[in-house]
Amino acid sequence: MKTKKHKAVVLSSMKEKNVQKEFAGHFKVSPLPEEELLSNLGLFLTSKNLARILFFYEIYKKIIHTHGVIVEFGVRWGQTLSIMSALRGIFEPFNRHRKIIGFDTFKGFKGVSKRDGRLSKCKDGSFSVPSLYKNYLDKVLELQEALNPLSHLKRYELVKGDAVKTIPDYFRRHPETIISLAIFDFDIYKPTKVALETIKPNLCKGSILVFDELCDDIFPGETIALKETLGLNKLRIERLPMASRISYLEIK
Ligand SMILES: C[S@@+](CC[C@H](N)C(=O)[O-])C[C@H]1O[C@@H](n2cnc3c(N)ncnc32)[C@H](O)[C@@H]1O
Repeated sequence: MKTKKHKAVVLSSMKEKNVQKEFAGHFKVSPLPEEELLSNLGLFLTSKNLARILFFYEIYKKIIHTHGVIVEFGVRWGQTLSIMSALRGIFEPFNRHRKIIGFDTFKGFKGVSKRDGRLSKCKDGSFSVPSLYKNYLDKVLELQEALNPLSHLKRYELVKGDAVKTIPDYFRRHPETIISLAIFDFDIYKPTKVALETIKPNLCKGSILVFDELCDDIFPGETIALKETLGLNKLRIERLPMASRISYLEIK
């Protein structure tokens, strides 16, 4: 599959980029036998990438005692959804209500506006994935579930399309939804605002909201959307030491 470049500002230094490229090259030509590849993925985890996984491990522990689903707004390659599925397999393999739902166009950004500023250099279509990628991700998530109990019940859903339409649509179709964890990673204002507005009635005390771009001058739209919907003043926006960009809050 050919990947289009995401055409966004990358903050890594040239040296870092070169090492990352060399590392990825080593991964591609790994001499590991196929049957040992997945169990040795740690060989290729950099501290930055491991930090993100550890962050979500800590977040998952916070939701174990709250009822409801996990939603991710902005899926792209689907790594976070897959990690969530693996964590569910570890912590609560028999929780059939813990569905994992991901929203994405699978065609990149949609709805970039003035509120998103100019620094990111992103436009509609940035962060796109190859045209059949949703089918590939579907299969990955199906296999991930197949390795855990209750594998006869499909407990994930990928919702494709512009979130400005698909999120209100989904919540109209599923009024029973309670949100235990929502992960915001659209990066941009419009779909983030619609997501926040739509899920408000489905949040409870203890619901956790994770954000990838708060207080980020490259993607200001996410903070503006939060300010306009929940307001910042009454929120305690927390972070964990291992990951600098991701933050979270708990509904009180
Ligand atoms: C930074 S990526 C998400 C990365 C992902 N959360 C991860 O952990 O790797 C942002 C995603 O938001 C999606 N997106 C942006 N605007 C959207 C919209 N209006 N509707 C649906 N998806 C959108 C893009 O297609 C892109 O895949």
